[in-house]
Amino acid sequence: MTLTFRNVHVTYPGSDRLALRGVSAEIAAGQRVALVGRNGSGKSTLMLVANGILRPQQGELLLDGRSVRYDRRSLAELRRQVGVVFQNPDDQLFSASVYQDISLGPLNLGLSQAEARARVLQAAELCGLGELLERPTHALSGGEKVRVALAGVLAMSPRFLFADELINGLDPWMRRQVLHILERLSASGCAVILATHDWGLAREWADYAIWMDAGRVFRQGKPQTVLSGPECPD
Ligand SMILES: Nc1ncnc2c1ncn2[C@@H]1O[C@H](COP(=O)(O)OP(=O)(O)OP(=O)(O)O)[C@@H](O)[C@H]1O
Ligand SMILES: [Mg+2]
Repeated sequence: MTLTFRNVHVTYPGSDRLALRGVSAEIAAGQRVALVGRNGSGKSTLMLVANGILRPQQGELLLDGRSVRYDRRSLAELRRQVGVVFQNPDDQLFSASVYQDISLGPLNLGLSQAEARARVLQAAELCGLGELLERPTHALSGGEKVRVALAGVLAMSPRFLFADELINGLDPWMRRQVLHILERLSASGCAVILATHDWGLAREWADYAIWMDAGRVFRQGKPQTVLSGPECPD
């Protein structure tokens, strides 16, 4: 399974500036992709394109080689396969309790209450949220919110997981646990795309790197090649 950005140009509604100016990249099953680049270079915007929240004005997004058409069916299929954990978890948590929040996605997929429950419990366990299921989502710490947002996406069993600076603000133990979760996901064939400013992590963790600059891909390829040289920040 592949997700392809082909010459994607995007402007935010109400803005007259292009946030992405011709991005082309292809992500394959099981890949571990580090998405790096300066503040404002377009990493979060690319994630919004990936699950159809933003639609390219020019260029296209392809799922398994088929162009996404932005009708209800096509978007539902895209969102079943592509999960995004947003940079700010408050953009993602809507429900009264942690349990309800994680169950939203599975219920939207049309699963029964019992199937959804099994998915929620599994995702919550994986993200270390077993004790917090009845907690109101507004009464969580920052790191706990991040993990609830991650669990909500995991419960949908995506084939592509985009995680926007997911590990920022996590304590070192939780950071290791979350990286371990991402490891397991990619081993099971899910592609994981992590936007990060941690270049050490990007080099160590990723098997592919995309370096964004001013709405374009500056370089992409093997992390050893892409993330080295005099242009690098470290
Ligand atoms: N809601 C919005 N409306 C208009 N322009 C936006 C909006 N969100 C982002 N932009 C602009 O789009 C461009 C890309 O921003 P984006 O958030 O994708 O960058 P980023 O690489 O994720 O940065 P950071 O590392 O700070 O998270 C920037 O020029 C930004 O100002
Ligand atoms: Mg961002």
